[in-house]
Amino acid sequence: MKDIRGIVFDLYGTLYDVHTVATLCEKYYPQRGREVSVVWRQKQLEYTWLRSLMNQYVNFERATEDALVFTCRYLGLEISTARKEALCEAYLRLSPFPEVPDALRELRARGLPLAILSNGSINSIDSVVRNSGLTESFAHLISVDDVQIFKPSRLVYELAERKLGLHRSEILFVSSNAWDVTGAAYYGYPTCWVNRGAGTFEEMDQRPAHEVTGVNMIAAQVLSA
Ligand code: 2OP
Repeated sequence: MKDIRGIVFDLYGTLYDVHTVATLCEKYYPQRGREVSVVWRQKQLEYTWLRSLMNQYVNFERATEDALVFTCRYLGLEISTARKEALCEAYLRLSPFPEVPDALRELRARGLPLAILSNGSINSIDSVVRNSGLTESFAHLISVDDVQIFKPSRLVYELAERKLGLHRSEILFVSSNAWDVTGAAYYGYPTCWVNRGAGTFEEMDQRPAHEVTGVNMIAAQVLSA
């Protein structure tokens, strides 16, 4: 992939581990932390997709909070205002996956501009990146706030092309979310699926151009190919 001139990453689940929040969930709901975190994330995604279809945009923090309230009701767990605030705040302090900081350094050393294109609000993206000390890694932090609709809308994928000033064929789009890779592939990006576990790719008439087990494999496996 010698013609790649920029890399765009998804944030949640790709560079940062959304299940970082399971630790605080576990403290509040012993033995149920992982379950809360998993249902919460799934519901958060569903709310972004549903709101996009209904043309009822709210920002990612709001969708995240609504999903948490639903999760607790669904699982029969109490949620006080203080807990809700603390758990939502934890979403702004996610840990990057272990290989990510070094991998970003290596990719930057190749002179490629790196960007994040996320369903997060600009405040969420900025907080997560700043709190992890990785601000310097990115040339652009791009939020769906600009178009008021969530991925996988084409309007969102278009944003990255515009912000980077590159044609879609020159941008490698990287995500661990198979549905996101599918949306990006439909838009026309060369894609790379980060499959850290033995995930199952979507059945929606697209396949990733590349598949890696971690962001640290991109330089060797994708760019040098
Ligand atoms: C993102 O960062 C939600 O993972 C998705 O846009």
